[in-house]
Amino acid sequence: MGAVPEQGLEIRLAQRPTGWPTAETFAAVQAPVAEPADGQILVRNIVMSVDPYMRGRMDDVKSYAPPFQVGAAMDGGAVGEVVESTVDSIQPGDIVLHGLGWREYAVLDANHAVKVDPSIAPPGAYLGVLGMPGLTAYAGLVEVAEFKPGDTVFVSGAAGAVGSVVGQIAKLKGAKRVIGSAGSAAKVSYLVDELGFDVAFNYKDGPVRQQLAAAAPDGIEVYFDNVGGEHLEAALAVLNVHGHVAVCGMISQYNNTEASPAPRNLIELVKKRLTVRGMLVRDHDHLRGQFFAEVGGWMRDGKLRYQETVVNGLANAPEAFLGMMRGENTGKMLVTID
Ligand SMILES: NC(=O)c1ccc[n+]([C@@H]2O[C@H](COP(=O)([O-])OP(=O)(O)OC[C@H]3O[C@@H](n4cnc5c(N)ncnc54)[C@H](OP(=O)(O)O)[C@@H]3O)[C@@H](O)[C@H]2O)c1
Repeated sequence: MGAVPEQGLEIRLAQRPTGWPTAETFAAVQAPVAEPADGQILVRNIVMSVDPYMRGRMDDVKSYAPPFQVGAAMDGGAVGEVVESTVDSIQPGDIVLHGLGWREYAVLDANHAVKVDPSIAPPGAYLGVLGMPGLTAYAGLVEVAEFKPGDTVFVSGAAGAVGSVVGQIAKLKGAKRVIGSAGSAAKVSYLVDELGFDVAFNYKDGPVRQQLAAAAPDGIEVYFDNVGGEHLEAALAVLNVHGHVAVCGMISQYNNTEASPAPRNLIELVKKRLTVRGMLVRDHDHLRGQFFAEVGGWMRDGKLRYQETVVNGLANAPEAFLGMMRGENTGKMLVTID
């Protein structure tokens, strides 16, 4: 097994953050690389994902994903090239998607890796538009929000990995009107000029409630919530009777040290008989084939676009994570690993 390097860089959780993480939250460490045992593979990571849910895993709280351990390497989605394999189904040179990002080399059980085809899409796409965020967008809109052609859809975090796909799928599936919110004028232009949103606004320009009401004169049937707080309150105010909310995330609150006062208008649920449903992408795996066929087809036909913001170098992954939380990404935030 001569191809196993002695050491590889990994990013560890150095300490749990209070509020916003800082550089001190992370530590970059050279660590020994293990020989793959029977049933395992060794992967040299090419690209990894930084995702909002990782902020929750930095806290020592019970949730749908276990907390990162202080002093141990963090983990998350990554795509890499197989260097060594002890199984027949995966060979050196294969490109695989797996869950041990935040490190140069990953040793893992072969059945925790999925082969991907880099001739269909570049490796990073399997972490974004064709990966977990893409499936979240698809499942959230189609299954959780029960989207129907003719609906008016509002999506927050609209220029990000999930939001940019939500808005485009809604348009492609016959939405009457698609409205997006994002945090800069450049992102607003991107949504309207490049992704085909009907209207978009910068939530930093003024109260979301007023901007959304102006963008949705006839109300909305669906709100896809990536942000929570003031955005959710604004959406509840403009939703039409029997409207649906897919609660995908609440990124405006992930670094808060105190509870958010909004939404203060939950009475709208009663007045308008709204359906508000939280979601986790892992509950929607049965849609993966359908998602891949439909979204992959739109990509091939040039009907669905995607963008990535790429930071180079594993040592810069903490900064990439923080940048994503600050809104420095358009589309999926990725880290390439040399
Ligand atoms: N439930 C699930 O299974 C599931 C799966 C994947 C993702 N999610 C959730 O989906 C949401 C989007 O995830 P993503 O991976 O696509 O991330 P993303 O949108 O690509 O990146 C995060 C974006 O959030 C925006 N943001 C940050 N702070 C904000 C604030 N205070 N108010 C409004 N926007 C803010 C920033 O854009 P701006 O420049 O526009 O501020 C930033 O670019 C997150 O809430 C995430 O937790 C849920």
